[in-house]
Amino acid sequence: MAGSLVSIDGVSKTYGEHGPLVLNNVSFNIAKGEVISILGKSGCGKSTLLNCIGGFEAMNEGQVLLDGKPITKPSKRCVMLMQNYGLLPWRSVRKNVELGLESAGLPKQEAEERVTHYLQMVGLTDRATSLPSELSGGMQQRVAIARALAIQPEVILMDEPFGALDTFTRYYLQDELMQIQQREKMTIILVTHDIDEALYLSDRIFIMKPNPGEIHKEVSLKLAKPRDRSDSDFQHYRELIFNEFQFTQEKATIEFNI
Ligand SMILES: Nc1ncnc2c1ncn2[C@@H]1O[C@H](COP(=O)(O)OP(=O)(O)O)[C@@H](O)[C@H]1O
Ligand SMILES: [Mg+2]
Repeated sequence: MAGSLVSIDGVSKTYGEHGPLVLNNVSFNIAKGEVISILGKSGCGKSTLLNCIGGFEAMNEGQVLLDGKPITKPSKRCVMLMQNYGLLPWRSVRKNVELGLESAGLPKQEAEERVTHYLQMVGLTDRATSLPSELSGGMQQRVAIARALAIQPEVILMDEPFGALDTFTRYYLQDELMQIQQREKMTIILVTHDIDEALYLSDRIFIMKPNPGEIHKEVSLKLAKPRDRSDSDFQHYRELIFNEFQFTQEKATIEFNI
């Protein structure tokens, strides 16, 4: 589609030659600066879809276009924020943030300035020399976010980035991510099974259904950010999405009974 930064175009995927269909004809477009959530239950194919978008998995059919060009392998234009942070335990916070820049061929001073800038953005300047093991889970997550941002990618892919954190840290980091996104206008594709997380962060939510993984419904959220989780509009969308899940649940049960 004209004006899209990312186009997911008829993507189908099986693992192995005779495996079940994990993704069936998934198509949607994402504009620059949008935050998109792919919401669905465990096993519906969310990570597989994200890996296809990032060029980590080959697909059987279809293609993913970034700025009109097919993505066929991982690139720095579209980086994945790992579920388990992917930090190197022997490297300091600063050296972890530097990691993605080492192969980028940036002049040393520019690389250092960038690292300093993004460490400051995520509030970790005074922990630059700490090791990951000396940080809380929330702080480790912020190191991972700084590292992804320092590469200055066009698209950031996030696979349940807050899944392992307690509720308070999760809310805090969701808020932080939202503020950074509003400032930097990055494009984010977020995979989650958390309805509230999708509602809090996204401009659009794609609800996936399983077996085979398909986009069941698209919901556009016409709510200003930052959002208030107790607001009646927020509740309205929560109910709407919750009802969609009851529907997919019923369908799954019927299929199971046959
Ligand atoms: N590397 C793999 N090899 C074979 N099957 C896989 C592999 N990764 C995922 N699957 C299967 O694909 C389906 C979708 O998995 P996944 O994309 O991880 O779902 P989600 O992220 O929504 O939990 C599941 O049935 C899972 O068992
Ligand atoms: Mg997953």
